[in-house]
Amino acid sequence: MVIQAESLNGFNRSHHCGTVGKEDIGKPVTLMGWVNRRRDHGGLIFIDLRDITGIIQVVFSPELCPETFKKAEEVRNEYVLAVKGKVKQRPDGTINPSLLTGQVEVYAKELRILNAANTPPFYIAENSDVDENIRLKYRYLDLRRPDMQRVLEFRHKINMFIRKFLDSKGFLEIETPMLIKSTPEGARDYLVPSRVHPGKFYALPQSPQIFKQLLMVSGMDKYFQIVRCFRDEDLRADRQPEFTQLDIEMSFVNEEDIYELIESMMKTVVEEVMGINLVTPFPRLTYEEAINKYGSDKPDIRFDLELKDISEYVKNSSFKVFADIVSIGGQVKGINALGCGHYSRKDIDDLAKLVAIYGAKGLAWIIIEDGGIKSPIAKFFNSQEMDKIIKTLEGKPGDLLLFVADKSNVVADSLGNLRVELAKRLGMIDEKLLKFVWITRFPLLEYDDEEKRYVSIHHPFTSPVDEELDILETNPQKVRAKAYDLALNGIELGGGSIRIHSRAVQEKIFKLLGVSNEEVENKFGYMLRAFEYGTPPHGGIALGMDRMIMLLTGKKSIRDVIAFPKTQSVTDLMTDAPSPVNPTQLKELGIKIDLTGNKND
Ligand code: AMO
Ligand code: AMP
Repeated sequence: MVIQAESLNGFNRSHHCGTVGKEDIGKPVTLMGWVNRRRDHGGLIFIDLRDITGIIQVVFSPELCPETFKKAEEVRNEYVLAVKGKVKQRPDGTINPSLLTGQVEVYAKELRILNAANTPPFYIAENSDVDENIRLKYRYLDLRRPDMQRVLEFRHKINMFIRKFLDSKGFLEIETPMLIKSTPEGARDYLVPSRVHPGKFYALPQSPQIFKQLLMVSGMDKYFQIVRCFRDEDLRADRQPEFTQLDIEMSFVNEEDIYELIESMMKTVVEEVMGINLVTPFPRLTYEEAINKYGSDKPDIRFDLELKDISEYVKNSSFKVFADIVSIGGQVKGINALGCGHYSRKDIDDLAKLVAIYGAKGLAWIIIEDGGIKSPIAKFFNSQEMDKIIKTLEGKPGDLLLFVADKSNVVADSLGNLRVELAKRLGMIDEKLLKFVWITRFPLLEYDDEEKRYVSIHHPFTSPVDEELDILETNPQKVRAKAYDLALNGIELGGGSIRIHSRAVQEKIFKLLGVSNEEVENKFGYMLRAFEYGTPPHGGIALGMDRMIMLLTGKKSIRDVIAFPKTQSVTDLMTDAPSPVNPTQLKELGIKIDLTGNKND
C-alpha cells in the first residue's frame, strides 16, 4: 500500500518529544517526530515517537478514536508522524525510569502520517553495533542515533562557549580565504584548478597561518577563527583530510600570554559545558624532558611509568649489544613493567614485536624474583652494574624490567609506545581524567636525511629562542624554538609559536632551510614585504577541534565527532566522492588525465 504524505496544516508543534513531563499531565499536546518503535499490545498500539530531544510513548486506542487507531496500524519504523493527544500519567508498573519522559504517555486523538520510510538498513538505537561503512553510507540515519545527536550538540556548545569566551577577551573572528596560493610545507596541498587561468592552481589552506600573521601586521591585535583546514596526508583515527582548527593569533605577546589564555579558555569551557573542574596552570615539560621521561612529545601523563636511562651503567659491561650502542652515541633505556614478573616468554615476545614496529632490534628483559634474577642477559653484568640497573628502574620482586638499546629516537619511539601499551595492560589509565600538558622549547630544525637539508619542525615562521640566535648559523641543530604543543591524554591537541617578526631573521631561516632567494620571493615575497611595514611581535596557536571533541566525549575516532567524515581511504561512502568529472569540465580547465605510472591507480 502506498502511503500518501499528509500535510502539516492545522498541526502546530506544542512540545518536543523529550520535553513532555509530569507537569503536562492533563494537557493537550501536538508532537512531531520519527517512529522509533511500534508495538501492538492486545488492542492497543504503542508508538515510541523520537525527535532530537528524546522519546515519548504515544498510545493509540480503538475506543478513543477508531480512525486514528486504524491509521496507526499502517505505521512502520522511521515513519514521520504528527500526533495530537493528551498527556496522562502512566499506570503503576509501566513507568520507564530509563526514559526522561518515562512517567507519562500521550493518548493520541489525531494522527498525520507526514511521510513514510523504507525499512532502514540498521535499527536506529543508542548502542546498535553496526559496521562503520554502513553507518557512513547512510550517515543521515546514523545521525538520527541519540548518541550522535548528543555529540554534535556538545560540539556546538563547545564552539559557542569558545566564541563567547574569546569575544569577552577582545578577540575578533575574521574569515580568511579558502582558495590560496600553494606553498606546501609538511603535508601535501589539495589543489583547485583555475578555469580563468588555465594551467594554474589554487590550494585549499592547510591552515590560515600566513593570513593570521598578516592580520597582525594589519593591527587586528587579537584574531581567532573556527576554520576548516585541508591536508592531503595519510589518515589515522585522529586525522581527517579536512578538519577544524580553533586558530588564534595575538600581537604584543610572549609564550606565557598564550599559555594563560588557553588554560583559562579550557578551564572555563570544560567547567561550563561539562561541569568538570580543571586544575590550572597545566604542567609543562620541555621537549627534551618529555622525550627523556616518556619517549613522546605528546605524553600521556595520566600515569607514570617513566623511561630510565641506564647507558652509563652498561657502557663498560660485557653485553656487547648495549656497550656498542653506547660507544657509537646511542643509548640504553628501560621501563619497569610493574608486577609483570609472571610474564611468559611468549608474553615478552609479543612486547618485542610491538617495539620492533618502531625500529627496535630487540627487547632485553630482567625478571626480579624473591632473592634472585631471571634474565638471558644477567650473565653479562657484574653485581655492581646489576644493582645500578635495578635501582635506576626501582625494580622490586615481581617486576619485569624491559630494555631497548638504539639511536635515541628509536629508543624514545619504541619505549614510549611500550609504555602506553603496558599502562593499558596494567589498568593504569583512568579514562575519566583529562590531563593536559604543555610541551615547550621544541627544536627549531631537524635534518632531513632524504632531502639532505634542514627542515622546520613547526613551520618556517617560528622564532628561535633569543639566547640561541647567535648559534643559528654555527650550530643550527642545537637551536630551540619558541614553539609549544598542548597534549591531552597522549594526543597532540594543538600547537603554536611566537613568530619571527623581523625580515632579517626570517631570511636567515630560509637560508638555513636551503630555500633559494628566488623560491622565497616566489612563495613568500608578499609576506616578507609585509614584514617591512611595521610588524608587531606576535604569536599564536591552533587547537584541533575534532580532536578536542573526541577527547572530551571519550570517542575513539574523530570520525565519530564529525557529521560527514571521510573514510580511512579518503572517500565519502554516502556521496561517492571523489568521483570522475565530465570531459567538458576538464576541457574548460585545460586538464588531461594521464594515469600511467600512478601508483594509486
Ligand atoms: P598544526 O599543524 O600543529 O599547527 O595543527 C594544529 C592542530 O590541528 C590538528 N590537526 C588535525 N586534526 C585532524 N586531522 C588532521 N589531519 C590534522 N592536522 C592537524 C591537531 C594539531 O595540533 N598553523 C599552525 C598553528 C600555529 O602555529 O598557530 C598549525 O596548523 O590537533
Ligand atoms: P642476542 O644476543 O641477540 O641473542 O640478544 C640477547 C637479548 O638481548 C635478547 O633478549 C634480545 O631481544 C635483546 N636485544 C638484542 N638487541 C637489542 C637491542 N638493540 N636493544 C635491546 N635488547 C636487545
